[in-house]
Amino acid sequence: MTDQATSGASSNKDRVVIFDTTLRDGEQSPGATMTFEEKLEVADLLDAMGVDVIEAGFPIASEGDFEAVSAIAKRVKRASVAGLARAAFKDIDRCAEAVRHAVHPRIHTFISTSPLHMKYKLQKEPSEVLEMVTAQVTRARNLVADVEWSAEDGTRTDMDFLCRTVEAAIRAGATTINIPDTVGYTVPEEYERIFRTVRERVPNSDKAIFSVHCHNDLGLAVANTLAGLAGGARQIECTVNGIGERAGNAALEEVVMALRTRADILPYVNNIDSTMLHRASKLVSAVTSFPVQYNKAIVGRNAFAHERGIHQDGMLKNAQTYEIMTPESVGVSKTSLVMGKHSGRAAFRSKLKELGYELGENALQDAFNRFKDLADRKKIVYDDDIEALVDDEIGHHGERIKVEALTVIAGTMGPQTATLTLSIDGIQATKQTTGNGPVDAIFNAIKAIVPHTATLELYHVEAVTEGTDAQAEVSVRLHEDGKSVTAKGADPDTLVASARAYIAALNKLMVKRMKTKPEAMTAGAAS
Ligand code: KIV
Ligand code: ZN
Repeated sequence: MTDQATSGASSNKDRVVIFDTTLRDGEQSPGATMTFEEKLEVADLLDAMGVDVIEAGFPIASEGDFEAVSAIAKRVKRASVAGLARAAFKDIDRCAEAVRHAVHPRIHTFISTSPLHMKYKLQKEPSEVLEMVTAQVTRARNLVADVEWSAEDGTRTDMDFLCRTVEAAIRAGATTINIPDTVGYTVPEEYERIFRTVRERVPNSDKAIFSVHCHNDLGLAVANTLAGLAGGARQIECTVNGIGERAGNAALEEVVMALRTRADILPYVNNIDSTMLHRASKLVSAVTSFPVQYNKAIVGRNAFAHERGIHQDGMLKNAQTYEIMTPESVGVSKTSLVMGKHSGRAAFRSKLKELGYELGENALQDAFNRFKDLADRKKIVYDDDIEALVDDEIGHHGERIKVEALTVIAGTMGPQTATLTLSIDGIQATKQTTGNGPVDAIFNAIKAIVPHTATLELYHVEAVTEGTDAQAEVSVRLHEDGKSVTAKGADPDTLVASARAYIAALNKLMVKRMKTKPEAMTAGAAS
């Protein structure tokens, strides 16, 4: 089957710039923190997928953010690399420093323009804000050629004032003007009108590209994004899996597939290789440990599943009856290689390639060992099993604390008891503890070996596939000192997966603490 509506000469279509902010707005969502290495991995994938601008972080926010933006700027081959900066000279200078090695560096600076934000957040008069726009964009433009300016809370901004600030920003040298729907408040008709009006009223509007940036508080982020294009915007800001502040941002995969599937009425082209969307979703879910909801458009587990008999019958006769795009077009391949306990390393390597993974030799060997172990225990090893296993391997790579052994006594006779051995920097420690249920007993054992004050905010178990022998994937979110981290663990044994997830979250907290208080986490490895 070919995809519907991918025809149409691209020559009469406008090009749309895809600006990905998974590493900045996405990473700002509570618990979605990524490590330095994970950020690099995501940046590499975004670049390979054809994203035009990668917003790599907020360099002034922390040393870690600066280092990540700077490293991404140095390694990204094709895309522009942007850093975010508030309207302050020190922010802008730090941002310029971080992106300066990029092939195409961009500074993205912003200030609030709505009456509410100016009065309560900035405590500034509109005239002061207007002056700051000129000063900040001028400063940024003296440092790089590509400057984006955003009118934060743009959709709740007075139209006359919005036009004055946009005109000032362009006059000062801004090359892209973003009008974000910061609080996810607008609706499609209104958002389209905002762009149309600003472009008509601002005399120098033809000197800049206009950009949409939508939050999903009312579930309208993608619809508003498309409406912004109708109003004349030609840059889309979005994130993989739609992660981001509160309800998230417009999902990159949804926007891209809407543009592709309805190319008959949406006259825009972009550079994204849509067959990499599934892989990007998996990677972002693995590194943030944010599960993708089953019925999520494009990348959810059910996105291409047809359960009801009448649908299946229609699908068998002609897939287009119920399928508006093919699974292959988003990188979901029909299984070609069936894996089992007799599959060797070469077959495993080619399966990983088919699933879109490229692992180094050591990671490949570790994943292969776990696959063999799984294949001995499980009748059928599905692609989902392999993806969970490899994501788990990636998520736990290089951890200082590791689960070495676990025995649990559970059941009606209580008390539930866990005997756990961890290694911390290679040194082993064992504790036996009881708890109110086996999971509580395990988490108590972890606390006994690695004393910490983090609180458990979320504990979530999911079966990776069907069947009672399915692997369990556990997500754990820990909170400490105002910071949350989420991590996953996968194993055919739910209790082992729980221990792995908790330990992974603890390792992430440890990385954070090392940056702020290095003395705080020297292995409390008692006994
Ligand atoms: O939502 C928002 O307003 C932002 C800006 C910083 C662009 O993320
Ligand atoms: Zn935002």
